Amino acid sequence: MPFNLSRTALGLWRARKWNYSTKELENLISRVIDVGITTFDHADIYGDYECEVLFGEVLKSNSGLRTQMKIVTKCGIKIKSSKFSERIIGHYDTSKEHIISSVDKSLVNLNTDFIDLLLIHRPDPLMNADEVAEAFTELKSSGKVLDFGVSNFLPHHFDLLQSRLSFPLVTNQIEVSVLHHEHFDNGNIDFLQEKKISPMVWSPFAGGRLFNDGGEQAQRTKSMLSELQNKYGAAGIESIATAWLFIHPVNFIVVLGSVNIDRIKMALDGMNIKLTKEDWFRIWVASRGQNVP
Ligand SMILES: NC(=O)c1ccc[n+]([C@@H]2O[C@H](COP(=O)([O-])OP(=O)(O)OC[C@H]3O[C@@H](n4cnc5c(N)ncnc54)[C@H](OP(=O)(O)O)[C@@H]3O)[C@@H](O)[C@H]2O)c1
Repeated sequence: MPFNLSRTALGLWRARKWNYSTKELENLISRVIDVGITTFDHADIYGDYECEVLFGEVLKSNSGLRTQMKIVTKCGIKIKSSKFSERIIGHYDTSKEHIISSVDKSLVNLNTDFIDLLLIHRPDPLMNADEVAEAFTELKSSGKVLDFGVSNFLPHHFDLLQSRLSFPLVTNQIEVSVLHHEHFDNGNIDFLQEKKISPMVWSPFAGGRLFNDGGEQAQRTKSMLSELQNKYGAAGIESIATAWLFIHPVNFIVVLGSVNIDRIKMALDGMNIKLTKEDWFRIWVASRGQNVP
């Protein structure tokens, strides 16, 4: 994997809802590190700007954990929040000033001296690529951020920003799952494979929709995953859903959102399941509701 990210990451987007004490969150982090997940995915805005703080409290009480992990965070979205009462609507801001001040806040919140990987959270129609490049270059030279990437970018957004940088963007974090195929269709996955860049994928279980959604697509896909769970002797359909991602030649880095350690382990088991091409396509066809041409 590039820059030593673990093949699976834990996302902290839902961390405020977990309602964990610092000790409980520390236990979760230690347990996931023990099973091989050493990458933790944040954003400044997660949990109304509070998830980074919860994580930082863990690092304050157990500073030894920092050396065992890679921290990813994001910036560029300004959500409407009671913490910023002057904001009228949510919007994007990828100015140099905002990127640098957002990183400075993340460093304090996370209680760390550096961020391993910083992503621009979403493509900003007002992005000035020269300014973003200036911010990234300054953050890199100061040692506050080691590597840089983007999230939810399309190839043309990616190319624009890369054209102004003297170092490579290392990832694009995009939504991909057995239920979400957009980036197979829009050229993004091919573009990243061409550049030998491993995408980070968010919502690998479609945000839980794979399990809770009564709609036809989810039901068809779930029943195919169950059939293949039996065929491959997997502990759960979670393993088949991640096996479907892990087997792809672009080398997806899977960002899990579950807080349940058994589900996390089942997701990791997907790395050991080598789906046949035919079985990969059985999931594809079940999800799309039509045979390949
Ligand atoms: N870059 C972006 O724009 C972006 C956008 C969204 C998310 N992300 C990142 O991606 C991470 C993961 O996203 P996500 O949380 O949507 O991922 P996910 O893994 O697809 O969904 C996690 C949700 O599914 C539930 N779930 C998992 N297995 C289940 C099962 N067997 N039965 C019922 N529910 C189940 C989990 O509940 P339990 O906890 O109870 O298991 C949790 O609520 C986020 O934390 C964030 O870091 C990035």
